[in-house]
Amino acid sequence: MTERLSGPAPESDGMWSTALARGLIREDVLRSTSYSDTGYIDLLEPHPRLRPTVAQRAMASRTVAAVYERLWRPIAVAALSLHGLSVAEERERAADALHLDGGQRVLDVACGPGNFTGFFADRLVGDGFVIGVDNSPAMLGRAVRDNARPRAVYLRADAAGLPFDDRTFDAVCCFAALYLVAEPCAVLREMVRVLAPGGRIAVMTSYGRESLLLRKGLELGAALCGVRVFDRTTVPAFLATAGLVDVEQQLRGISQFVTARRRG
Ligand SMILES: C[S@@+](CC[C@H](N)C(=O)[O-])C[C@H]1O[C@@H](n2cnc3c(N)ncnc32)[C@H](O)[C@@H]1O
Repeated sequence: MTERLSGPAPESDGMWSTALARGLIREDVLRSTSYSDTGYIDLLEPHPRLRPTVAQRAMASRTVAAVYERLWRPIAVAALSLHGLSVAEERERAADALHLDGGQRVLDVACGPGNFTGFFADRLVGDGFVIGVDNSPAMLGRAVRDNARPRAVYLRADAAGLPFDDRTFDAVCCFAALYLVAEPCAVLREMVRVLAPGGRIAVMTSYGRESLLLRKGLELGAALCGVRVFDRTTVPAFLATAGLVDVEQQLRGISQFVTARRRG
C-alpha cells in the first residue's frame, strides 16, 4: 500500500537544474552543443584559436587542474599575499556579496574546478541553480569530479562571448580570472549584459597598489606570465559607466573585490 503524503509538495532538490540551465543557452548556440564524456556541456571547439599565454597554458593543464583547489590556489593566495582571507572566508564573502539564499540563477564565470560553484550550489533552494562557465576542459573535468552538485551545471564556453540572452542571471561573478583573459573589458561587458534587473555582480581580480615601484615590479612579473595588473579605478569605473549602482570596492594585498547591483 502506498502512503499518501499530505501538506505542501516537497521542495525541488535541484533535479531539473541541467534542463533549466540548457533552457538558458541561446538557441543558435545550442545547435552546436555536445556533452563531453566528463559530464559538462561543451560549446567550444577542441582547441583555442589564439596562442595561449603561460598562465593560460597552466589553466589548461590537467596537472594544475588536479591540484588547483587544494594546493595551487591556497598557496598562490598566501605566497602573493593576495588578499589575506582563508578559503572559507573568501567563499562566505562571495556568497554574501551576491546575496545567495534562495532560488536564484547564478553564473560563475571562469569557474575553474568549481571551487566556488559547488559552494554556491549548496546555498540555493527551490529552482535555484548555478552555472559554472570555463574554457578549459581540464578544469571542467575536475569541476565535475570534485564539485558536482544537483544545483551545479558546468559549461564550456568563452567568458568573452557568453551564450545567454541579456538579463538572464540574478547573480554573476568572476573570481581570479579577469587578469588572465585576453580581453577583460569584453568579459565585464558580457557579465553586465547577462545580469537581470536587481541582480548582483562580484569580481575579484589583481590590484597593483599605489606604489609605482611595487606596481612596476608586479607588472613586469605579470607580463612574463601573461597576467594583467589592474589599477584601482578600471573595474569600478567600468561597472558604474555600464549603469550599475552601489559599486563598492575592497582593496586587500594585491587583490581587489568589487561588487555592484543592477537597478531593479
Ligand atoms: C585562476 S582560475 C580561477 C578559478 C576560480 N574562479 C577561482 O577563483 O579559484 C582562472 C580560470 O579562468 C579560466 N579562463 C581563462 N580565460 C577564459 C575564458 N576566455 N573563458 C572562460 N574561462 C576562462 C581558466 O581556464 C581558469 O580555469
